Amino acid sequence: MQLLICISLTVIWCLLEVVASDPQTFLLNQGCSQFNVTSYSDFSTNLNATLTELRGQLENNMSFAVAQDATGSNPVYAMVQCRNYMSKKDCLSCFTTASSQIRNCSSANGARVIYDGCFLRYESNMFYQQSTQIGHVGICGNRTASQETVFETTVESLLGDLVEATPRIGSFFGATKKEVVGVNGNVTVYAVAQCVETIDQRGCKECLQVAYANIQRCPPDSDGRAVDTGCFLRYSDLPFFGANHTIDITPFLKSRDSTKKKALIGGLVGGGGLLLLLTIIFIWFKTSRKDKAVPQGDVEGPPELQGPLSYTYKELNFATTNFSEENKLGEGGFGEVYKGILKNGRVVAVKKLAINKSERVKTEFDTEVKLISNVHHRNLVRLIGCCSKGPELLLVYQYMANGGLDKHLFGERHGSLNWKQRFDIILGTAMGLAYLHEEFHACIIHRDIKPGNILLDRDFQPKIADFGLVRLLPEDQTHLSTKFAGTFGYTAPEYAIHGQLSEKVDTYSFGVVVLEIISGQKNHETSLDPTAEYLLKRAWRLYQDDVAMEIVDRSMDPTEYNLEDMKRIIEVAFLCTQSSAALRPTMSEVVAMLKTMSSLEPRQPTRPAFIDSERRIVPEDRSTSTASSNATNSISQVSGR
Ligand SMILES: *[C@@H]1O[C@H](CO)[C@@H](O)[C@H](O)[C@H]1NC(C)=O
Ligand SMILES: *[C@@H]1O[C@H](CO)[C@@H](O)[C@H](O)[C@H]1NC(C)=O
Ligand SMILES: *[C@@H]1O[C@H](CO)[C@@H](O)[C@H](O)[C@H]1NC(C)=O
Ligand SMILES: *[C@@H]1O[C@H](CO)[C@@H](O)[C@H](O)[C@H]1NC(C)=O
Ligand SMILES: *[C@@H]1O[C@H](CO)[C@@H](O)[C@H](O)[C@H]1NC(C)=O
Ligand SMILES: *[C@@H]1O[C@H](CO)[C@@H](O)[C@H](O)[C@H]1NC(C)=O
Ligand SMILES: *[C@@H]1O[C@H](CO)[C@@H](O)[C@H](O)[C@H]1NC(C)=O
Repeated sequence: MQLLICISLTVIWCLLEVVASDPQTFLLNQGCSQFNVTSYSDFSTNLNATLTELRGQLENNMSFAVAQDATGSNPVYAMVQCRNYMSKKDCLSCFTTASSQIRNCSSANGARVIYDGCFLRYESNMFYQQSTQIGHVGICGNRTASQETVFETTVESLLGDLVEATPRIGSFFGATKKEVVGVNGNVTVYAVAQCVETIDQRGCKECLQVAYANIQRCPPDSDGRAVDTGCFLRYSDLPFFGANHTIDITPFLKSRDSTKKKALIGGLVGGGGLLLLLTIIFIWFKTSRKDKAVPQGDVEGPPELQGPLSYTYKELNFATTNFSEENKLGEGGFGEVYKGILKNGRVVAVKKLAINKSERVKTEFDTEVKLISNVHHRNLVRLIGCCSKGPELLLVYQYMANGGLDKHLFGERHGSLNWKQRFDIILGTAMGLAYLHEEFHACIIHRDIKPGNILLDRDFQPKIADFGLVRLLPEDQTHLSTKFAGTFGYTAPEYAIHGQLSEKVDTYSFGVVVLEIISGQKNHETSLDPTAEYLLKRAWRLYQDDVAMEIVDRSMDPTEYNLEDMKRIIEVAFLCTQSSAALRPTMSEVVAMLKTMSSLEPRQPTRPAFIDSERRIVPEDRSTSTASSNATNSISQVSGR
């Protein structure tokens, strides 16, 4: 008996000891930017200085620190965070491991390493305010917990509470445990949540909700972690923090009653309707096909690590051979675009912004460029860098081999796209817009969706161009009163006429583009007879007469598509162009409709609205001018959430 007590005491002591002194350097995630610094010696000096500075702060009992150094070129911004339960000694030891590991990225201008116990990241630009970024991922354990069902429900409720409480705790750190009496013995779950201290409460909440969605697929695995730029979430059936570090989170929960809690979990799981569910399914789908324990970045490297690169005017002038005519790719709403070849051989598109370099524009340019360069989605054209010093403002984008969709639909290449390609373009564009509206941390309304702004890559996958630039235009140019009103024929009437802006403005334009893709015809053919009927109007008439299929492009092989599916997609286009903005679906709903197609309960579209050549709304519809309740003049194009 004594022996037994002695052994169990030893075991407990060992366990405490392990907990008490463990730098927790199990590597969860790491990545290097794909871009190298221009001057290694400047960079190396700056990196060493910031790491020394960070260590100093950790030695002063801090568990979170940032430091930056910008001697010469190649500035370095760095951040470290230890989990608050780590002792100072363990924290420093985790940091030591991290700082040596992060040097594996050699001359990359950004890098991160994330461990159970701490994380370290540096970038060539300020990133402290980032909360959630693409690349966030859940990492599940390799063992199944005992008493799966009880364990699963316990994890779910514990994490739900933690995600709700942590943003309200001053230190942005929550650690808690829960013991449940099961049939075959007790089950205990330990969990922590932590946010970086440079984001606000809303950012913390947002990040943890994404983390919660990522970790959901882990139970009944004994362990689960979710990592992101702004937060960390972990649970385990083993104590990975000392018992004296648990925090009573009940005061930070809105209410302990079960309806509230259900609402919270419902809110997290169903979050804003379909979107989060889709995200979860998407993430699950993406990750479930990979090795569960090994997180992987995308092949281009972890995208959140690439800030906008700064180019000199000279470099870009050289890349485009003095912005020569031969290199001109076209002219967009914001200026001319040129093909360029950078010194490292990379082919890019350089946009010369035709916007006056006023003081306001200069200050907004940097913020805007930073914002846009953080938008990463496979259906959005990636901004690589910029140049703000020189005679013009220049933006450097990914080069798209197949150019604008308009050329393939209406130009000399008319009829060259088959149905599969067209459907992929419709779906991809919808996904890109859903990301801009709902998934990126700031809602970006494009305002000028049209085939010319949908570019096609080598594989004819669509990427939306020119998002986020509208804010650089003078305020009074942002709606019909002067130059910019989106493009005639694509702009939702309530915006063109009344300046009422909401993300449903893009939904409308998308609906028009879908009809154009299906029919191979322009909505509004300016070169033809001005009295010619609009595509949208004609399509609606045919649809009402139950002969909607007559608008389908005859150059497409009819054996390639299914009639029912085609009809459904035409209906989706009409749902998008309804005259009441409130009735139009959100882009994530559109994505869901396109993906599930016939299995979804069909919604009946109401009459579309469009503008005739006198710029009147047709049909005159009272509900349009009051549109949706959240569509107002004052919603700026980028509004924080
Ligand atoms: C960056 O540098 C590493 C080695 O220092 C090299 O292998 C890699 O190709 C470089 N990447 C670019 C994009 O120049
Ligand atoms: C920075 O630190 C590394 C590792 O300690 C060292 O190899 C390198 O020489 C240092 N660089 C500079 C510029 O001091
Ligand atoms: C750090 O904390 C320890 C104990 O908690 C204390 O003895 C020490 O003085 C603190 N150091 C600083 C620099 O505040
Ligand atoms: C990073 O570098 C260390 C040595 O500094 C090496 O042991 C380790 O395998 C490297 N890790 C990777 C992922 O390259
Ligand atoms: C399971 O994961 C742990 C770390 O959490 C690791 O030490 C162990 O080797 C893994 N076991 C297997 C079988 O992969
Ligand atoms: C399980 O928990 C209950 C209540 O917390 C406790 O009384 C009991 O001793 C525990 N059983 C075991 C096997 O630990
Ligand atoms: C928790 O307990 C450990 C020893 O078990 C001790 O070193 C540490 O200071 C304690 N921490 C707090 C916050 O009380």
